[in-house]
Amino acid sequence: MPANPRHPDTAAHDGRKHDAAPTISVGITSPGGATGAVVVITGASSGIGRAAAHAFARDGARLVLAARSEDSLQEVGAECAARGAATITVPTDVSDAVQVTALMRSAREAFGRVDVCVAAASVYSYGTFQDTPPEVFQRIIEVNLLGVIHTARAVLAHFRDQGRGTLIVIGSVYSRLTSPYVSPYVTSKYGLLGFTEVLRQELREADDIHVCAVLPATIDTPIYQHAANYTGKRVHPLPPVVSAHRVARAIVRVAHRPRPVTVIGRTQRMLIPVHDFSPRLYDRCITPVMNVLALRHGTVPASNGTVFAPRPATNQITGNWRSTPIRALGAIGAILVGWSCARRGRH
Ligand SMILES: NC(=O)c1ccc[n+]([C@@H]2O[C@H](COP(=O)([O-])OP(=O)(O)OC[C@H]3O[C@@H](n4cnc5c(N)ncnc54)[C@H](OP(=O)(O)O)[C@@H]3O)[C@@H](O)[C@H]2O)c1
Repeated sequence: MPANPRHPDTAAHDGRKHDAAPTISVGITSPGGATGAVVVITGASSGIGRAAAHAFARDGARLVLAARSEDSLQEVGAECAARGAATITVPTDVSDAVQVTALMRSAREAFGRVDVCVAAASVYSYGTFQDTPPEVFQRIIEVNLLGVIHTARAVLAHFRDQGRGTLIVIGSVYSRLTSPYVSPYVTSKYGLLGFTEVLRQELREADDIHVCAVLPATIDTPIYQHAANYTGKRVHPLPPVVSAHRVARAIVRVAHRPRPVTVIGRTQRMLIPVHDFSPRLYDRCITPVMNVLALRHGTVPASNGTVFAPRPATNQITGNWRSTPIRALGAIGAILVGWSCARRGRH
């Protein structure tokens, strides 16, 4: 398929014919699945978004891939085309509402409709609130929270027009839990969960328009290499670490059978009731856990990571962080140590 002439940044990847109308839309429980559905993915150049692109390609979807890194998007486009998907790539900074509106317009122009939108674009930082530069805090909110709000505004206009569609917002277990050193990220992810709930309430009458949140725990992606870091220490994901492909499969399942909230990662999900019903205990435990497991030895210079600019060289699905059972046991051990410190602190 030729590149979309009305969008200079749009590049197309020929996987198969894609001038036919989609046979079945994702998000509507129809026999036959998602064949031909048009799926827009933001954050498609790396990690969960890239794994989701592969999973939707295998599922027969037609794809519109967005992120800042044009070269990475081209690679992902070729990977999806190799899996049989008709794909266009649209370099987009989600913090810019104009670009996001143009992204959805490109999707509609290329494929005639948008059935599913996965909002996965995100940036991350480590550092105390005091050590995190204000402009970094602001930018994380602009990308993670306002970026999804721009995405929702743009795609819901198409969904209302079509009378159907599914928005899948990638939040985090940090939409339900908290920890020190990640205040902008947690603020953005808590905001996202509230935002998706309100959208669902307001769209109750629209039977075929769905707004879903997927909340992954720790996932093996390069987000930890991409994170800004003002701690002076090497950062490490909290174990246990789950594969990005597992999240991608869950996202495709949600597209087929929309549900309000899906949490991925059993161990960290178990902490949600502790956080909700025993907040003092949770507060006491989480700091030692972060100090032992998330911040490691070594002196690391302050870095803005990918907060202001992408790093295409490290865009890939995996961050090579997969947990061994020993590391997972270490995590449980650290939680128990934190818990016993907390008890001693109270006596
Ligand atoms: N990995 C985890 O442990 C974990 C856990 C819970 C939730 N999540 C969530 O899962 C989602 C995907 O994260 P990931 O782990 O896959 O991280 P990742 O590998 O760092 O991917 C982040 C993606 O966001 C894109 N992005 C960043 N800033 C952008 C901007 N301004 N405009 C457009 N795209 C932008 C990046 O591409 P460019 O840099 O090329 O723009 C990249 O494609 C995020 O919402 C994240 O919060 C991840």
